[in-house]
Amino acid sequence: MALLVALAAGAPGCSGGHSALRTEGTGADRAAWLGWGMIAVASVITVGVLTAFVVGSLRDRPGVEDERRERRWVIGGGIVMPAVVLSVLSGLTVATLRAQDTSARRTRLRIEVTGYQYWWAVRYPSNGAVTANEIHVPVGTAVDVDLRSRDVIHSLWVPSLAGKTDLIPGQVNHMVLQARRAGRYRGQCAEFCGAQHANMAFVVVAEPPATFDRWRRAQARTAAEPRNAQAQEGRRILLAQPCAACHTIRGTSARGTVGPDLTHVASRQRIAAGTLANDTASLTRWVRNAQEVKPGALMPPIDLTPGEVRSIVAYLRELR
Ligand code: CUA
Repeated sequence: MALLVALAAGAPGCSGGHSALRTEGTGADRAAWLGWGMIAVASVITVGVLTAFVVGSLRDRPGVEDERRERRWVIGGGIVMPAVVLSVLSGLTVATLRAQDTSARRTRLRIEVTGYQYWWAVRYPSNGAVTANEIHVPVGTAVDVDLRSRDVIHSLWVPSLAGKTDLIPGQVNHMVLQARRAGRYRGQCAEFCGAQHANMAFVVVAEPPATFDRWRRAQARTAAEPRNAQAQEGRRILLAQPCAACHTIRGTSARGTVGPDLTHVASRQRIAAGTLANDTASLTRWVRNAQEVKPGALMPPIDLTPGEVRSIVAYLRELR
């Protein structure tokens, strides 16, 4: 009973935008079916074993003539049945993984995701769009995702859409993301990769094809010219500071590839791989000293006056 109560108490944590139980994608559906199937089979076996145990203990002590029957139980229930059950479940598991490969071949869109300590670079080779920590996909389309890593092993996991796949240095892995319904699905790095592994989140935005196309075209453009004087000053400071050595802002001299591409940073929902809201207060905190927010992240503190931070943030806010 205590176990059941404990399980029920934890159940609400499985709902919301980050749940392998509320599936909205083909890959997650298949994994959920397999999981529930295994739980059903395991339940039947557990009930069977407990029943046999209770019935056996209530019986009188077996006589000599029962030895043959005992052996049949041991061989049937201890060898034959587990062999059959485990073979069938392994077969279903392999079939589930194969199904993922087949849908990859029917794919219409290919994107590239690269894992970094502790964020995700997202590229659309179809038109050169680049973003970070935000994967947009058209609803209903099987999207083939190429997975790479720049440093250590990460794992891309969007529980509502598909199972986990590792991003391994020196190798390209693939996975398929297909969303049935428009919406935002939270994803998370699922392989311990360092101090800020837990803050390596992202969001998958599934949207109607026309909206997706508009977004992809916008993300492929070069950066907007800053309109007001403070933002212009911000751009001047940013390009003169070490910021430009790590970040790219397309259309400017900032061409670093260590940190996220900032060309359209203001269009994103969150910053610092899901850690902070994308607003002036959070950007200020982040630019002032990222280590205070994400200790161990690779963005070093830079010596800037409060006024310089304000100008840089004003510029970043205009990068729509
Ligand atoms: Cu990347 Cu954990």
